[in-house]
Amino acid sequence: MTALTDKQILLGVCGGIAAYKACDWTRALRREGAAVTVVMTEAATRFVAPLTFAALSGRKVYSAMFAADEAEQIPHIGLARQADAVLIAPATAHTIARLAHGLADDLLSTLVLATTAKVVVCPAMNSQMYRHPATQANLARLREYGYTIVEPACGTMACGEEGPGRLVEWEEARQAVLTALSRQDLAGLDVLVTAGPTREPLDPARLLTNRATGRMGYAVAAAARQRGAHVTLISGPSELPVPAGVELVRVTSAMEMHREVLSRAERMAVIVKAAAVADFRPKATTPSKVKKGKASLTLELAANPDILQELGAMKARSACFPLLVGFAAESGELRAEAQRKLTEKNLDLIVANDITAPDAGFAVETNRVLLIDRNGTETELSLLSKEETAHRIWDAVVTRQR
Ligand code: CTP
Repeated sequence: MTALTDKQILLGVCGGIAAYKACDWTRALRREGAAVTVVMTEAATRFVAPLTFAALSGRKVYSAMFAADEAEQIPHIGLARQADAVLIAPATAHTIARLAHGLADDLLSTLVLATTAKVVVCPAMNSQMYRHPATQANLARLREYGYTIVEPACGTMACGEEGPGRLVEWEEARQAVLTALSRQDLAGLDVLVTAGPTREPLDPARLLTNRATGRMGYAVAAAARQRGAHVTLISGPSELPVPAGVELVRVTSAMEMHREVLSRAERMAVIVKAAAVADFRPKATTPSKVKKGKASLTLELAANPDILQELGAMKARSACFPLLVGFAAESGELRAEAQRKLTEKNLDLIVANDITAPDAGFAVETNRVLLIDRNGTETELSLLSKEETAHRIWDAVVTRQR
């Protein structure tokens, strides 16, 4: 189950070479349980056969405005009403112009005029066409109408040109659709999220780190963005793609994370510390590689600052400090340890998880967490995707803020 499950997505496909990518997007949406109704412009049907979309969506594909042989002769009102979100991909210069000027000369443009659902537009076209002032002015108009424009990616185009105009990857469009479907209950709030492991260098070749991948923290950041927050993500080394619209600050060590978090903390509304910060660092870091013949077999360590504990102490001294959410990574005594950290670090909410469970904790897509808030209220969440878990954490934060 994801935020797309059971949602009605109207996918408008226009006549560009990237139309074939919309086939994969249809499958991706259906895999998450969304109902996808495809509406193709006449030009789109020259690139991909409607039958392909019919097979992939499991539904009738609409293209013509007036289908004389159908009982339902003008489908646009029904389609426009049903949709939870309208996703237009690829959106060509022509369709963008039609939408900007309120034309209703084909089924897709007509139903966009008729819908009250959020509209997400993913332009894809030749770079010069994209850069042309006419296209840019039309896109500016669509933004004024409240449509979301997912800026195309840069790269080599099918026509051989380099520049902006490539259809974005599905993950980026997906985030935009999720944003369109989300409650905007964090609108305008400044939120800081930390994620990933930290790396504590010993010499140019060796380091101390842990198993965290950043998945939970990145999901928390993406969910906050979808709900309208301004998100700063302070991340230790991670391979994950940065959620669109999130400001990323990359750090390596706990000391760097400490500096970056503290310099921003006071202007935030909420801080979520999902990072697995290394508690210790090598006491000495050498600029050249330690040779095995000369190495001592005992590694001397120094304690890193506990960033969250410092934030908690600052909160105790300040009347208007951000709401603090911590994580507790445990391999036993989950409840007691989480409760201890909640109190000792002066948190509003703690998210505790058992890192020894195969389907929770580090490097997996799912998590099973226990939430405990400052008043002692406990919420045990079932096994959920990290994305879903992130939204439940924000639900708990929003409840506390009211
Ligand atoms: N944390 C932090 N700075 C540290 C260590 C931890 O900010 N130097 C934060 C983590 O981001 C997390 C919370 O504190 O939100 C708890 O981290 P965890 O690793 O579970 O516990 P520790 O406090 O390190 O305690 P222990 O290792 O004894 O379990």
